[in-house]
Amino acid sequence: MAEIAVFGYGTVGSGVVEVIDRNAELMKSRGVDMHVKYVLDIRDFSGDPISSRIVNDVDVILNDPEISVVCETMGGATFAYEYSRKALEKGISVCTSNKELVEAKGAELMKTAREHGCSYMFEASVGGGIPLIRTINDALTAERIDRIYGILNGTTNYILTKMDECGAGFDEVLKEAQELGYAEKDPTADVEGHDACRKIAILASLVSGKCAEWKDIDTEGITNIDTEDFRFAKELGCSIKLIAMCDFNDGCRAIVSPRMITADSPLNSVKGVFNGVLIHSDMLDDSMYYGRGAGKLATASAVVADAFECVRFDGKEVGRGWSEEKLVFADADDMKGRFFVRVDNANADAAAAALGASDKIKHENETGMVSAEMNGKEFKKKLSGLSGVVKFIRF
Ligand code: HSE
Repeated sequence: MAEIAVFGYGTVGSGVVEVIDRNAELMKSRGVDMHVKYVLDIRDFSGDPISSRIVNDVDVILNDPEISVVCETMGGATFAYEYSRKALEKGISVCTSNKELVEAKGAELMKTAREHGCSYMFEASVGGGIPLIRTINDALTAERIDRIYGILNGTTNYILTKMDECGAGFDEVLKEAQELGYAEKDPTADVEGHDACRKIAILASLVSGKCAEWKDIDTEGITNIDTEDFRFAKELGCSIKLIAMCDFNDGCRAIVSPRMITADSPLNSVKGVFNGVLIHSDMLDDSMYYGRGAGKLATASAVVADAFECVRFDGKEVGRGWSEEKLVFADADDMKGRFFVRVDNANADAAAAALGASDKIKHENETGMVSAEMNGKEFKKKLSGLSGVVKFIRF
């Protein structure tokens, strides 16, 4: 029997306990007998069935030779970092859902794991329950991945879906999402694109083998998307999604931004809190991964699957990671694309001519148009010479 400890009894941590308790027999029949011996949390859970397994002192766990795997679901990069590092130094594998820590310290923690004959696993840190990390590490191991493009944040996808379907404004939908528990009280990390950025940084690191830092990635959130954008989008047969993308052709370029997504894209039908990711690789071509990118049991399931692998392979390093060498991104504005632009009606004809936009949609005060294909630098240069531009959204 493998004894497991869980760091943090919040949403995901309690999910880990539930998944292991509920599916222990099933996993045993598949070759791994797991049991949660301890849960580390400083809060008081008296009266809760978990209370007999709660410990407040991390050393109780780290000094127990029976513990072979820790599931770290604390979040943050301070205590979670210190405790994860200490566990790995003792040869205890760590499986985490903590994207902030994986992005900031993943390379170092993987190195520590290697040096101590154990594993640092992070399937749940990107795409929640969607098996993206294992797919890239295992199923696509014979592939050269040249592009990852997708919806990696459920909160913003919920907000944009509601704005699209109900014609409601950003503030109204955000408030509703907070009331329903889909959005955090402080929604900054989600709505400003930081969460999606950390996730694409982790994927960029995994594919490139070097350490991508989220602050090096151009990131724009969804706070400026308004009802007029959706009015134009509908007339263009598009939806608007927050897309995180990384392109590995000729260097590595990454960007997180809202985009108009045409009806024929499979990402167009990724709605609500769901995530959807397209991976393009040289042999397989396009493959798509879809599912719950957040939520208690979906995310916990991915953490437990990592723990299962650690036990199955007796702690030996499972999967690929990346080195501590910094990934230097090339300029995302070198990538070609088209751009949706809103211009006041008085300047619309001049803008359309400059941007090579063939079709125009005229509203009361503004005209919407889609530029010809050009790279970001060329587009921004043309845009700076125009008058009456209200905004642009990548296509
Ligand atoms: N806030 C994240 C989301 C949770 O909305 O997708 C999962 O990382």
